[in-house]
Amino acid sequence: MEHHLLCTFSSLLLLFLFLFSSIPVTSQFPFGSNKQAHNYSNVSCVENERQALLQFKHGLIDESNRLSSWIGEECCSWEGISCHKTTGSVLKLDLRNTVPFDDSDDDYFKNCLGGQLSPSLVNLTNLRYLDLSSNIFSGIQVPAFFGLLKNLRYLNLSSARFDGEIPHHLGNLSHLRYLDLAWNSLSIKDLGWVAGLSSLEGLVLSKLNLTAAQDGLQSINMLPSLTTLDLNACELFIHPHLSHVNFTSLAFLDLSLNKFNNYRAPPWLRNLTGLHDLRLGSNSLFDSIHGLFDQMTCLVHLNLSSNHFCNASSLTYLDLSWNNLQGSIPSEIGQLINLTYLDLSHNNVQGSIPSEIGQLSKLTNLLLTRNSLNGTIPTNLGQLTKLQAFDVRSNSLTGVLSEDHFAKLRELKYLDLTGNSLALNVSSSWVPPFQLQEIWMQSIIVGPRFPAWLRTQNELEVLDMRNASISGAIPSWFLSKNKSFPLGLYLSHNFLAGHIPQLQRVLSVLALNDNRFTGTIPEDLCKSENLSELDLSNNLLSGRVPLCLGNLRDLQYLFLANNSLSGQIPSSLGNLWGLSYLHLNANKFVGKLPASMQHLSNLLIFDVGDNGLKDTIPAWIGEKLSELMFLRFQSNNFHGPISDTLCQLSHLQVLNLAHNNLSGFIPRCFNNITAMVSGQDGGLAIESQQSLQDIKGGREVEYDASSLELVKSLSLSANNLVGEIPDEIMELVQLQVLNLSQNHLTGKIPDKIGNLKQLETLDLSMNELFGAIPELI
Ligand SMILES: *[C@@H]1O[C@H](CO)[C@@H](O)[C@H](O)[C@H]1NC(C)=O
Ligand SMILES: *[C@@H]1O[C@H](CO)[C@@H](O)[C@H](O)[C@H]1NC(C)=O
Ligand SMILES: *[C@@H]1O[C@H](CO)[C@@H](O)[C@H](O)[C@H]1NC(C)=O
Ligand SMILES: *[C@@H]1O[C@H](CO)[C@@H](O)[C@H](O)[C@H]1NC(C)=O
Ligand SMILES: *[C@@H]1O[C@H](CO)[C@@H](O)[C@H](O)[C@H]1NC(C)=O
Ligand SMILES: *[C@@H]1O[C@H](CO)[C@@H](O)[C@H](O)[C@H]1NC(C)=O
Ligand SMILES: *[C@@H]1O[C@H](CO)[C@@H](O)[C@H](O)[C@H]1NC(C)=O
Ligand SMILES: *[C@@H]1O[C@H](CO)[C@@H](O)[C@H](O)[C@H]1NC(C)=O
Ligand SMILES: *[C@@H]1O[C@H](CO)[C@@H](O)[C@H](O)[C@H]1NC(C)=O
Ligand SMILES: *[C@@H]1O[C@H](CO)[C@@H](O)[C@H](O)[C@H]1NC(C)=O
Ligand SMILES: *[C@@H]1O[C@H](CO)[C@@H](O)[C@H](O)[C@H]1NC(C)=O
Ligand SMILES: *[C@@H]1O[C@H](CO)[C@@H](O)[C@H](O)[C@H]1NC(C)=O
Repeated sequence: MEHHLLCTFSSLLLLFLFLFSSIPVTSQFPFGSNKQAHNYSNVSCVENERQALLQFKHGLIDESNRLSSWIGEECCSWEGISCHKTTGSVLKLDLRNTVPFDDSDDDYFKNCLGGQLSPSLVNLTNLRYLDLSSNIFSGIQVPAFFGLLKNLRYLNLSSARFDGEIPHHLGNLSHLRYLDLAWNSLSIKDLGWVAGLSSLEGLVLSKLNLTAAQDGLQSINMLPSLTTLDLNACELFIHPHLSHVNFTSLAFLDLSLNKFNNYRAPPWLRNLTGLHDLRLGSNSLFDSIHGLFDQMTCLVHLNLSSNHFCNASSLTYLDLSWNNLQGSIPSEIGQLINLTYLDLSHNNVQGSIPSEIGQLSKLTNLLLTRNSLNGTIPTNLGQLTKLQAFDVRSNSLTGVLSEDHFAKLRELKYLDLTGNSLALNVSSSWVPPFQLQEIWMQSIIVGPRFPAWLRTQNELEVLDMRNASISGAIPSWFLSKNKSFPLGLYLSHNFLAGHIPQLQRVLSVLALNDNRFTGTIPEDLCKSENLSELDLSNNLLSGRVPLCLGNLRDLQYLFLANNSLSGQIPSSLGNLWGLSYLHLNANKFVGKLPASMQHLSNLLIFDVGDNGLKDTIPAWIGEKLSELMFLRFQSNNFHGPISDTLCQLSHLQVLNLAHNNLSGFIPRCFNNITAMVSGQDGGLAIESQQSLQDIKGGREVEYDASSLELVKSLSLSANNLVGEIPDEIMELVQLQVLNLSQNHLTGKIPDKIGNLKQLETLDLSMNELFGAIPELI
């Protein structure tokens, strides 16, 4: 009894305290961390509230038993509960699932609460903080009674899979400061209710479909205290005209992926003079846009003495990526002295990088990928002591980068220069100030020597120096460092010679193709158990393929083409069940295809052409390798009939059995290869850069990976095939290449050959065909 009275009294005191206390704003979301949450295990909880919590728990599904502590009298010490220090009244209910989201990880889903939300919650009359985020309340709506939790300051319902309409009752929460509804499948037709949230400072609605909430922005404009507004990916129509901007206190504004009138930035953006963080990415994928860039130049053409216009020097974060911004980066950018993050990637920015960029001493990320920047990179880039990521991939920059360009880049971790006409000229004794994790320098002139400064880099995870004009041997120190994290190493298309070096390091990708390596494939390679791609093609390697390659169970891409590798294809390769690309062509392999290869059921591309293999076409190819899109046996010693089983390869786009000793009839079932019959198939993306070869028009042409999708080709030429050309071949209407030449085919050319409208090459020469040539069209 006494206890109860105390509580009531204290509740009043509490209310009093709330009204006159101000919560210090330390981070973007001051309530977001758990730091202020305390379990006061020595205060007694209010019985009525304890009952309310128990009833609330009763409605929940709690698979992982997160709420196992919700027993006994002391509800203030229960998991997720915080009470007032003296009154014991529940202030905070934090049931956020803190296991990081991972689609493939059961832990996350197990830890999710679900079920029903009991209205008993309204008996927690002092509740200020409610976090139900990252749980799974699918099938239920946000309850209207939340609108009765009058004292709420913080309400986080993000990523909780709520459905249905959002109840307008939430608009009654006039003390609410933070509202996060992001990542739910709520349908929101009207945002009018937010105008009631007169204390709101942070509103997060990202990933909600606000297409139907036409006046949404006007409603949000009723909130003068707003400092944080996150409308990322809301498809909201962003009004170009607001009669008066109320939310001038905005510090954080994310309008990425919305709908801008005429693809222009609204002029009222200029009135947001306190912006720290502005994100306008991905808003104009299709149209040309001047407005946004005008807006940006407005932001940087600021005049520090006039404070009404574009006072953007407070900006710390500016993301304008994936738009269609034109024009050049103005030199005034140097005045954005607090800028830490600048992302202009994927636009059409022209001109050069102004040297004033060197004044942005706080810059950590400078991301300029895929624009039309030209000229040289200014030397004072090297002054950016905080820079962590510099990315200018795919521009038209020219010139020579010297040690000065990197002079003070102590923090640099990510460097991407790929796709520019740049050269790197540093001394052989250079010790860079940085420890890079990723180096992307494809087609940059780095050679002629192997860069000695790489010796100083101990944190490398990716090194891409393809086509970098590097000659000579890879020095022994390079791969000798024993590092636990795997390295992706791309050194293709250089002039590297000597033996493939001994490896101490584990690798995830090793691409040494198109060099001049000699000797054998070292067995060391097999230590890299995580290797997913091995490309040694187009070198001068000889000897046998090490049996232990079959231990590399993660291998997806194995390219050994165009070497002088000999002996039998090791049957251990049949262990590589994840393999999707296998190129063994243009070597000196002999013997049969190992039967173990029938286990390679994920193979898309299988090329053993131009070897000395002597075998019949094994039935398992058609029966087991059912994903195959590309099969090439050309120029070997395959003999016997063409097995009908090949017709089971319905995804096959290229079948090349030319220049073998195959005999018998052409199977009548090729019309079962649906990829050659219908245009629907072949949508599979081919990712590898490895080029593919086939016979087209009598000469070798290279099909690069991107064009394979389109190629449909059947070549059986230079064998001993007899009989007539089956009518079924004329159903392969997608064929671009049909080569049956140099066989002993007899009879007439089928009339229906005119069906093959896609044909670019047709070769039936050197057979024993007779009769008239049918109309081809
Ligand atoms: C809401 O919770 C999520 C995690 O579930 C968190 O990432 C987000 O920052 C929270 N929102 C606010 C406004 O604190
Ligand atoms: C509860 O514990 C805190 C910290 O240990 C202490 O400061 C406070 O005086 C205690 N209150 C009561 C009522 O015992
Ligand atoms: C709130 O508490 C009162 C008093 O214990 C009780 O009668 C009422 O049913 C509770 N309300 C809800 C919705 O649980
Ligand atoms: C709360 O909001 C709803 C819907 O907007 C409204 O009908 C109701 O009267 C409000 N209740 C209070 C107590 O303000
Ligand atoms: C968003 O909602 C509108 C209707 O309000 C609908 O037409 C549109 O397809 C939705 N967009 C997405 C991505 O679901
Ligand atoms: C600005 O906010 C005030 C107070 O919420 C409101 O009365 C006024 O209509 C708002 N102005 C505009 C243009 O929305
Ligand atoms: C922006 O600020 C200027 C200068 O203070 C003012 O004249 C103008 O009305 C404001 N625009 C809006 C949309 O609030
Ligand atoms: C830059 O940041 C500093 C520290 O946060 C701040 O004191 C200063 O006012 C900012 N400068 C501008 C121009 O906003
Ligand atoms: C850069 O491109 C612009 C046109 O976009 C051109 O006017 C200028 O001459 C070029 N500068 C250099 C150094 O190539
Ligand atoms: C490379 O740098 C050295 C020393 O600074 C210089 O002598 C040489 O001319 C430079 N080479 C190129 C191609 O810029
Ligand atoms: C190799 O780099 C040079 C520039 O150094 C470039 O012109 C050429 O196109 C690149 N070749 C390939 C295949 O990328
Ligand atoms: C070709 O397809 C037909 C119908 O799907 C099937 O009956 C036949 O067995 C197939 N022939 C071969 C050789 O796969």
